[in-house]
Amino acid sequence: MKITVVGAGNVGATCADVLAYREVANEIVLVDIKEGLAEGKALDIWQKAPINLYDSRTVGATNDYSKSANSNVVVITSGLPRKPGMTRDDLISTNAGIVKTVTENVIKHSPNAIIVVVSNPLDVMTYQAHLISKFPRTRVMGMAGILDTARYRAFLAEALNVSPKDIQAMILGGHGDTMVPLPRYTTVGGIPVTELIAKDKLDAIIERTKMGGGELVKLMGTSAWYAPGSAAAQMVEAIVKDQRRVLPVCMRLDGEYGIKNCYLGVPVILGKNGIEQIIELQLNSEEKALLETSHHHVKEVMDVLDKLPK
Ligand code: NAI
Ligand code: 2OP
Repeated sequence: MKITVVGAGNVGATCADVLAYREVANEIVLVDIKEGLAEGKALDIWQKAPINLYDSRTVGATNDYSKSANSNVVVITSGLPRKPGMTRDDLISTNAGIVKTVTENVIKHSPNAIIVVVSNPLDVMTYQAHLISKFPRTRVMGMAGILDTARYRAFLAEALNVSPKDIQAMILGGHGDTMVPLPRYTTVGGIPVTELIAKDKLDAIIERTKMGGGELVKLMGTSAWYAPGSAAAQMVEAIVKDQRRVLPVCMRLDGEYGIKNCYLGVPVILGKNGIEQIIELQLNSEEKALLETSHHHVKEVMDVLDKLPK
């Protein structure tokens, strides 16, 4: 198995590191446009192997996609991150150009790959990679829901003073303030969360989750990487090991949830072919209205991409 991670910055290098120490693939390639960065980080990860006892071979390349040839999965993390005061949508014109060039290079050398997009604005960069690659929608997806759900689960674990391992949850919609956390589908060791926490506390956690990315940008002056890199690696692992995990993933909806031609996070089964199945939940009217708001927001940003000079 061969995995390429494009962008050897904070998220890409973290993702490659997690893939290596979890031995998800025997070959991991990091690519970046900045001279020497990917080679250096890949070498550093490789030199950690004798300490942490893994044997995934990690190599780096400066803008040389021949090294990525025939990758099974490619993760795209290249692009600008947010700075304080910016929304994810502010990144669109720069990152759309980067994701375009990167996707063209990726598909030239790995025509059968499954693409996992991380660059922001996530839903619209997934759209961009799908437009450029022309791959089936089951092979082009975005990572956001695992991260957003992890933030929600971590906040709940803290509030309830229990292990985050026992919290299961689902978040639908776009990767932004309009995301739709679903308390009705949140359990703690199988117990509905609403039986364990007061409504006002749960509502506050949901609000904090929606702003979770911004909270970290304010603290660090740039966006997060440990949880995002691990979340992308979890998607790769589910695909490479054909785990058939049920995870929230951004993809193009073609009528599911009553939504067409829009890229949103929904629960799917992830396996060796990429998205093996979309799971359609029976939403109540309040949940449907929230998803509709998210749909409209993402659609507006997709329209901005459509109007950018080609
Ligand atoms: P970073 O600035 O640390 O790394 C980005 C890397 O991309 C840099 O090393 C840069 O040289 C490289 N790059 C730029 N243009 C390139 C090109 N044409 N080809 C190859 N490499 C290129 O940024 P970070 O923190 O790693 O974030 C990366 C992206 O991921 C950002 O757009 C950020 O907003 C997004 N992100 C998305 C998350 C999500 O949940 N989907 C979570 C966290 C970050
Ligand atoms: C995050 O949610 C900025 O999308 C990035 O951390």
